[in-house]
Amino acid sequence: MVKIVYVGFGIVSQGLAEIILRNKSVLPLAKNLKIQTVGILDIMKGSKIDANGINMHDVLTNANNDDYSLLSENILDIPKAIQEIDADIIIEASFTDIKTGQPAISHIETALNSGKHVVTTNKGPFAVAHEHIINLAKLKGKMVAIEGTVMSGTPIINVLNNGLLGSDITAVSGIMNGTSNYILSKMELGMSYNDALSQAQKLGYAEADPTSDVEGLDTLAKVMILANVVFDVQLIQEDIEVKGISKITLSDVKEAAANNKRWKLTGSVWKDQEGMVHGLVCPKLISMNDSLYGISDATNALKITSSILGDTTIVGAGAGKIETGFALYNDIISIVNR
Ligand SMILES: NC(=O)c1ccc[n+]([C@@H]2O[C@H](COP(=O)([O-])OP(=O)(O)OC[C@H]3O[C@@H](n4cnc5c(N)ncnc54)[C@H](OP(=O)(O)O)[C@@H]3O)[C@@H](O)[C@H]2O)c1
Repeated sequence: MVKIVYVGFGIVSQGLAEIILRNKSVLPLAKNLKIQTVGILDIMKGSKIDANGINMHDVLTNANNDDYSLLSENILDIPKAIQEIDADIIIEASFTDIKTGQPAISHIETALNSGKHVVTTNKGPFAVAHEHIINLAKLKGKMVAIEGTVMSGTPIINVLNNGLLGSDITAVSGIMNGTSNYILSKMELGMSYNDALSQAQKLGYAEADPTSDVEGLDTLAKVMILANVVFDVQLIQEDIEVKGISKITLSDVKEAAANNKRWKLTGSVWKDQEGMVHGLVCPKLISMNDSLYGISDATNALKITSSILGDTTIVGAGAGKIETGFALYNDIISIVNR
């Protein structure tokens, strides 16, 4: 039996819960162990702890009607609850703060200090405190898995960590924000920036406050995570130039099209000749022969440049309930297998 606890029970956690239910709570490829939810901790929706296992079918059925009455415990000290609960893996899917990484850093630290593994989709902690968390995990003999922090369930972190062993990575660059790419794709069809943004909001791609997406802050967090994962370097936010897409006009987009080019919001991290690592977030004009040219709507893509293989581009979903829930599912299976 693998006992899990959700910290934050929003879209992503519910996506994972749905996948687990679909698979009858059995973890495929992971010794076919049963998975049991022993806790849900959410400061807004409510909490529930049950050492005998929570009935997730009922919780999810209600959640689909926006009814969280089954999460009837009002737990406000989430770290204390994480520490005290008897569980194997903590699913950290609470709020992202890319400036401080909190409260997720304290959730993760508490989980590791109390002998639990962590899987997470939260970008904040790994943008600002990657090394500290990985060192703590090593010290405690526990695992932290972060596949869903970049490009949701599309395998990127695993590829960067293992898939290119022997071919030195020198640069990673791509489209890592679905909302911005969706807006730019619609502008190519003649839609105004504001109309494209409200359509992205209606479709659930963009937040009510879209600043982080369109001004490049979400991409910045991913660039910082990639610098840590690929080059083992903690970049400082203030050292990275960040420019979003809000100043791109319809005429800029038309002019690009007339030259067989497209504007894309890109995030890049690379190592220069002297071995220095740099990051950059900005809209770039992409030519037809570039693998990023054809990436439209909310799709994401990352181009990895490495010494033996040259350019490898990975294309896939960058967000979504099931897509991001899958990243957590895959990470849980990897941890159980190891
Ligand atoms: N959605 C995606 O496609 C996607 C993709 C990749 C990564 N992510 C990341 O995955 C995480 C979860 O995303 P989501 O879309 O599921 O967000 P969400 O729907 O807003 O769910 C997060 C939940 O955590 C709760 N929460 C906030 N602070 C908390 C705390 N201190 N302790 C416990 N619970 C807390 C939130 O309550 P409130 O409603 O009051 O805030 C909310 O119910 C975020 O860090 C996000 O950046 C999401």
